[in-house]
Amino acid sequence: MQSRTQFLSWPKHLLDVDGIDAAKIQAILEVAQGYIARNRAVDKKHSILKGRTLINAFFENSTRTRTSFELAGKRLGMDVINISASASSISKGETLLDTALTLNAMHADAIVVRHPSAGAVQLIAEKVNAHVINAGDGAHAHPTQALLDALTILQKKPRIEGLNITICGDIAHSRVARSNIHLLTKLGAHVTVVAPPTLMPAQVERYGVRVCDNIRDGVAGADVVMMLRIQFERSGSTVIASVRDYFHRYGLSHAVLATAKPDVLVMHPGPMNRGVEIDSAVADDLMHSAILDQVEMGVALRQAVLEMMLSEHV
Ligand code: NCD
Repeated sequence: MQSRTQFLSWPKHLLDVDGIDAAKIQAILEVAQGYIARNRAVDKKHSILKGRTLINAFFENSTRTRTSFELAGKRLGMDVINISASASSISKGETLLDTALTLNAMHADAIVVRHPSAGAVQLIAEKVNAHVINAGDGAHAHPTQALLDALTILQKKPRIEGLNITICGDIAHSRVARSNIHLLTKLGAHVTVVAPPTLMPAQVERYGVRVCDNIRDGVAGADVVMMLRIQFERSGSTVIASVRDYFHRYGLSHAVLATAKPDVLVMHPGPMNRGVEIDSAVADDLMHSAILDQVEMGVALRQAVLEMMLSEHV
């Protein structure tokens, strides 16, 4: 594990990956690496953050992210509370800010926030004393997902620099795509994005990525293929003509995957829509699929984030 002093200049909040340089990213990935083995042991618990309080405030649905932050906090000895929009006073008309100030007044040490609006998490971070971690704000950012994706890749590949990484799906409305593009290009990967014109952000080339409009061109020679769900909740139902047509042009099948490198890694942040963006046989192909590894890495990575953010303020 790294020395604690490596974290001294870490920002107070984790809102996106843009503000973290490559050295800090490497440091957190190394710390996370240490938690992987511990999470596979019978006794998974540490007391490094004993006595600290973590509040998971999720104003949008989640399975993986919320559960893994909860496990991460508990395995570090924290008291963890979960609140959701439907079960909170948000449903009684309280503003987001009032909810955040209320949680802060209870001396939460860290607040993990997921919200459907881009920028909402930053707004909260500006008003509270607690450390704030962005667990996904609209189509803007999902920093811990990008970090856990990098950690997953590093379980199978010696380094990220120089890898051909293809991200395919709803690039325009995906915070996972946005955060991964920033992080992976920062670490020296060659990133290709694949999407139909309706799901491709304007001027995406300015982020230093190669752009393709069909999956066959995008996947040829890839070391890693990252598939994304169509974010119908953000893009509306009219962005694709038909699921069948979409799968034909943008879905990942074994026939498409055969053009990638023989040891290609298939990733998906979940939730998957089998038969839409990914064929079931590929999702379940243990030779290539790292989808459940991503879930496992998510806990270790979030432990590292919590340790790094909170242990310098003992
Ligand atoms: C993603 C999200 O919520 O942004 N899922 C996740 O965090 N594992 C992707 C998605 O919802 O499609």
